Amino acid sequence: MLKTLSRLISYKLYTPGPLSTTSTVKDSMKNDLCFNKSFNKDINHIRNQLLKISNLPTEEYTSLLLPGSGTFGVESTLRTAVNQHQKILIAVNGAYGERMVKICKILKIPTKVINIDERKIINIKDVLYYLDTEVTHFAMVHSETTTGILNPIDEISSILKKARPDIKIIGDCVSSFGAVDTDFSNLDFIVTCSNKLLQGVPGLALIIAKNTTLDRCEGNAKSSVLDLFKISRTYNHFVVIPPYQSISALKKAIEEFWKEGGVKARQARYQKNQRALANGMNELGFKHYIDDGDQGWIISTFIEPKHYNYSFEKLYKFLADRGIIIYPGKLSKLPTFRIGTIGELYKEDMIECVKCIKEAFEFMRIPLPLNE
Ligand SMILES: Cc1ncc(COP(=O)(O)O)c(C=O)c1O
Repeated sequence: MLKTLSRLISYKLYTPGPLSTTSTVKDSMKNDLCFNKSFNKDINHIRNQLLKISNLPTEEYTSLLLPGSGTFGVESTLRTAVNQHQKILIAVNGAYGERMVKICKILKIPTKVINIDERKIINIKDVLYYLDTEVTHFAMVHSETTTGILNPIDEISSILKKARPDIKIIGDCVSSFGAVDTDFSNLDFIVTCSNKLLQGVPGLALIIAKNTTLDRCEGNAKSSVLDLFKISRTYNHFVVIPPYQSISALKKAIEEFWKEGGVKARQARYQKNQRALANGMNELGFKHYIDDGDQGWIISTFIEPKHYNYSFEKLYKFLADRGIIIYPGKLSKLPTFRIGTIGELYKEDMIECVKCIKEAFEFMRIPLPLNE
């Protein structure tokens, strides 16, 4: 990858976070900000909006803002939700599922892992098979950014809650919340962050929690800043200096989210983007890592060509020189690269990206369409 990106070029990020935001979202951060009277109003507004976006009843759920990234949201949720005398079952089909396992190991939470092939979705049969009577919590990733696979979290949580109503369910929805139409009503904790599909800027982890579940979490999290129970009982929700600019940007981003038409409209735009990318890349002969039916619309993984002239660094630089930033692969088994279809990107941007990839391959003297 390029060692340094020029600060003079306005890049478009075809990445799964950080992602490109609108100029109006960026403008909303231009002032120095600090605590004032309207700040509490803004926080309450954002918290209400998160519940509205989730389509969950406001009297049963609460939402929390935490300084940090998606992982801060995931770790604070695991810390708060589960204690060392309980047991969590985690279904893993990618790096973000593995990250939850790693966090639980650090926290010494008894953990049982279902390891699933990265190319296969998590399915309820496996979850029920591995469930034992000691399991108190279940966690999974909704949209696994490692590959772009979309796991059916609503179906799994619904069947699991029917089979075992006592189990508390945690969803890492970092890369799905806001653009994947989902029934969250069987989840106890839903985690996302500001710089994903809501299209704010980095700086905030966002957590939606079921009140009756959170109420029983006092004392679980051994942390001064990652204890969601404590945060939920803290005036204005911040135990440290809040990331004011991120909050301001998120408020603006949510306003634009509704202007676009909410979850369904954003999902439709990203799906259009993903289809334009998939069609263009198919024409160039690239193979998708994930089967069509399981592929989400957030990020797509492509298998790298074996041609001796190919190098990801050359492709990356060629695209970056034209203002396009893509992502390397995250798989250990196979060389791949990834292209995101989220953020302030439209179908025309995807067509432009494919056109530049074609030019990059001509530049590398690799015949297209690929024939591998
Ligand atoms: C599904 C998922 N979970 C967790 C994370 C971690 O988020 P962050 O890098 O903001 O900590 C990501 C980041 O891309 C993600 O896609």
